[in-house]
Formats: sequence, C-alpha cells, structure tokens
Amino acid sequence: MSTISKTILVTGGAGFIGSHVVRLFVNNYPDYKIVNGDALTYAGNLENLKDIQDKPNYVFERVDITDEAAVEQLFNKYKFDAVIHLAAESHVDRSITDPLSFVKTNVLGTVVLLNTCRNHWKGNYDGKLFYHVSTDEVYGTLGETGFFTEQTPYDPHSPYSASKAASDHFVMAYHDTYGLPVVMSNCSNNYGSHHFPEKLIPLMINNIKNSKPLPVYGKGENVRDWLYVEDHARAIDTIFHKGKLGASYNVGGFNEWKNIDLVHLLCSIMDKKLGRSSGESAKLITYVTDRPGHDLRYAIDATKLNTELGWSPSLQFEEGLEKTVDWYLANEEWVKHVTSGDYQHYYEEMYKGR
Ligand code: NAD
Ligand code: DAU
Repeated sequence: MSTISKTILVTGGAGFIGSHVVRLFVNNYPDYKIVNGDALTYAGNLENLKDIQDKPNYVFERVDITDEAAVEQLFNKYKFDAVIHLAAESHVDRSITDPLSFVKTNVLGTVVLLNTCRNHWKGNYDGKLFYHVSTDEVYGTLGETGFFTEQTPYDPHSPYSASKAASDHFVMAYHDTYGLPVVMSNCSNNYGSHHFPEKLIPLMINNIKNSKPLPVYGKGENVRDWLYVEDHARAIDTIFHKGKLGASYNVGGFNEWKNIDLVHLLCSIMDKKLGRSSGESAKLITYVTDRPGHDLRYAIDATKLNTELGWSPSLQFEEGLEKTVDWYLANEEWVKHVTSGDYQHYYEEMYKGR
C-alpha cells in the first residue's frame, strides 16, 4: 500500500470530462487520494466511474459547490492540497432558457471554492494549487480565419460563456490579489464516451440509432474544433503537474469541422455499423431554427501548451469518432438510463416548434 502524497478535490468528477479526469488520476497516481465532489445534477452520473469506484485512492462525496458550509466541511475533512475544478452548468442551450442557474453554479460556486482555498491555505501556499478548467467560448467567435490564443480578449456571447468568463476572471483576480496559486486552461469542444446526449455528437448518435430527426441548427455552417476527451484529460494532467502558476493554456484538437459535415460523417459511420444502406441515416437531417447568439467558429491555437509543456492530441478525429460510436452502441443501458425521465421532457421543450 502506498502512502498518500497529495489529496485532490476534483469537482464535477461525475460529469463527462470530470469522470475521465478522475479515472486518469486514480489509475496513474496511486499515491494521490482523489475526492470526487459532485452534486449529481442531471449531468452527473456515478455509472461513469463504475470501473474505478472501489479503488483505495478514490472517494465520492456528494456536495453542492454553491453551499459554503458544505464546502467548508469537506475541506475540514480532507485538508486538500489541490483542487481541479470542473463542476459547472455546461450546456449553452440550457443557459439560454435558465441563465441564473449558470451564474449560481459557475460564478458563485467558483468563488465559494476560491474563498475556501484561501481561508484553508492561509497564505501558506507551498505545494497548493487551484486548477480551473474553462472553455474556449470565453473568447467569443471567430470569422472564417484566425485562431484563439491565450492573448485573445474575452468576448462571451451566451449566458454560459459569460458565466465561465466571469469565473475565469475571479480565478485570476484571486491570484493577483491574494497570491492564490492558480492555473487555468481553456479547451475546445470535447467528444468521447459518457457524453450527455444533449450535446451535438451524442445527441446525433442517439437519434441516428433510433431513426429520429437530426436537428441541425441554422444552416449547419458553424464550425467547432473537436478534441477527444481522453486527450483533454491528459492535457489537464500535464498542466496540473507542469503548468506555470498564474498562467492559462489553450487546449484544442487542431481539428475544425462544420456541423453539417460532422453530422454527415457520423451518418456514414453509423450506416456501416448499423448495416444500413449508404445515405439512409442522412435522410434524417432536419434544419431547425438557429440557436440565438450562435457563435460562428471556434478554433484553438494550442501552440503554447505544445511548445512549453509538450502536450499534443493523440487521436485522429475519424478514429476517435468510431471509438465513440462503438462505445454508445455497446452501452445501451447507460444511454437508456440517462435518456429516460427528465431527458424526454428536456428534449420536447428544447426542440418543439424549432
Ligand atoms: P458536464 O455537464 O458533463 O458535467 C458537469 C458536472 O458538474 C456534473 O457531474 C454535475 O453533476 C456537476 N455539477 C453541476 N453543478 C454542480 C454544483 N453546484 N456542485 C457540484 N457539482 C456540480 O460538463 P462537462 O462537459 O464535463 O464539462 C466540465 C467542465 O469543463 C466545465 O467546467 C465546462 O465548462 C468545461 N469545458 C467543457 C467542454 C466540453 O466540450 N464539454 C469544453 C471545454 C471546457
Ligand atoms: O467549445 C467548448 C464548449 O463546447 C464547452 O465549453 C461547452 O460546455 C460544450 O457544451 C460545447 O459547447 P457547444 O455549444 O459548442 O456544443 P454543442 O454540442 O451544444 O453544439 C455544438 C454545435 O452543434 C453548435 O454549433 C450548435 C450545434 N448543434 C447543437 C445541438 C445540441 C446543432 O446544430 N444541433 C443540436 O441539436
């Protein structure tokens, strides 16, 4: 049995990216104790972590990061050396219908964590770290050309990205004002296993499988830069261990796709896997009313992370997408659980009359 060298709180560890981060840290660092602190909202699912739930260096604690007293109690119990903060409301469409819950979790929740770290670490910051996981959406939108770098000014357009931008500013303000040891990363769109089917790729996979309409917003011309989620988890590992205090790092896949081209690619992969004739699934494509304030294009320049810390993406997109489709087809029970009940209601409300 190894002794524990660090105790790390991973917030949002039961979500999509969080569960991949928890798995990577639990498996790669047996001398770290990983405490997954998650409120288990609709997006949090302990089934995501079934394979590591019995490991001796893993603990789950149900906690709402906006609840100061509960967060204080958790810090008293575990005396954390570091926090990797992923808990958030993460879906842009939901932020358009309910902005306040995004302010609450993403802004207030982040500040509660920052305050608690500051109070507990009391200026003795040796070996301590607050790692804030953020998004490229804080930079706003690009036109046909150019890339987001770490110097791109913030220009968020959705309530989601505005709340993430505010949280980023608070993180950096705690560094500048109180000297809190922080590091931050801003990542592009992730894809992979355990992705909740409100987001483009898993929603399309699920609808193709069930021969339901494939709702493409606007003309499908919007561009996203897709990164395999396990590559993001590796980037977080790298930045956690080697990142410069007070720095931010862009993380991206160098992998831009127009939504409509991506949906066609998924349709053709799934035609083959489901034994359908070529072009059959693409007939399900339905253009629907655009998302308000829809950012045209995201593209990350991840040169800094590559040259300073040596990270680069490992998977080609087609390969990652095939693996993702295979995972969804092999995990029908997982899909069934997350798409029953509330999901049906969400889907009807979000897509009716669109
Ligand atoms: P997700 O929605 O899948 O998971 C969010 C997790 O946070 C869930 O487990 C949920 O239960 C938990 N949570 C929500 N509110 C909470 C609260 N008040 N207290 C404690 N836990 C709470 O999100 P995701 O896609 O895995 O994103 C994780 C983080 O990465 C977010 O901060 C997001 O902004 C950021 N990010 C996501 C992407 C992406 O493509 N998904 C890209 C870049 C950055
Ligand atoms: O860029 C990083 C961000 O990527 C993260 O910060 C967010 O948490 C994450 O949700 C994601 O945001 P997007 O809005 O880019 O992802 P989403 O999967 O919702 O949509 C991807 C694109 O697909 C976007 O242009 C909108 C479009 N879309 C989405 C859905 C759900 C459709 O055309 N139809 C749909 O039904």
